[in-house]
Amino acid sequence: MTLGPERAPLPLGCSLSFWRPGRFRLRPEGFPAMPFLVWGWCHALGVFATRDYGIVLIFQDGRLVHRTCLLPAHFRFPFMGPGDLQTAGIWTHPDQRGTGLGLVALRAVFHQLQGSGRTLWYMVREDNHASIRLAEKAGFHPWGRGRKLTSLGLGMLGAFHITEPSGRPSALWPEAWDACTAPVPKASGSAAGLGAGPGRGRPPSGCG
Ligand SMILES: CC(C)(COP(=O)(O)OP(=O)(O)OC[C@H]1O[C@@H](n2cnc3c(N)ncnc32)[C@H](O)[C@@H]1OP(=O)(O)O)[C@@H](O)C(=O)NCCC(=O)NCCS
Repeated sequence: MTLGPERAPLPLGCSLSFWRPGRFRLRPEGFPAMPFLVWGWCHALGVFATRDYGIVLIFQDGRLVHRTCLLPAHFRFPFMGPGDLQTAGIWTHPDQRGTGLGLVALRAVFHQLQGSGRTLWYMVREDNHASIRLAEKAGFHPWGRGRKLTSLGLGMLGAFHITEPSGRPSALWPEAWDACTAPVPKASGSAAGLGAGPGRGRPPSGCG
């Protein structure tokens, strides 16, 4: 499925905003240190390749009901190009799951990035059916399976590698991850824009 970059309507009583880090603002108020403070420091210290770290927040009557974080490329995801972004920390309040908030947030991200020609990645565990469904609905194409290799015995420093690009027969590994990617639609939002690979030697999208 291909979605255009237009925004999806918010459910009644909801408001959406983009949180961005500031000089003395490394995480949104009330957010736990892990992983948000770590990501805030990655932004502040220049670990992230670009200054695009941010979080889509959806509130309903003042209560946080959804968040989708956007992480720029960094050492843990060597398959990402320097300008690429990845969705992370996607979460919907359990009371609100299945009401489409995840899709609203992802479409807001597409809207924000339209015309930039950058690739947006979506990483998900292969047993997370709700999340895979969300990625499919948003128009992501399967890119491959991979796994995290620990570094110095620390999971936090481990890098994710795509070991099985889509299109090949794949084993179902218990710790395997699916990686999905959708090049951000061009301003026209055309299917051709979505099908175009980002040109760094990757397999063509939709090969799975
Ligand atoms: C994955 C998650 C973010 C999806 O967000 P969402 O706002 O519920 O997204 P959607 O409303 O578009 O629903 C996506 C799919 O979730 C499934 N779903 C529906 N109701 C659900 C519920 N009550 N509980 C769990 N999953 C549900 C459905 O398969 C739905 O697809 P459908 O609309 O085609 O039926 C949410 O389930 C969540 O927060 N899960 C826990 C954290 C997590 O796993 N994050 C993703 C890490 S990659």
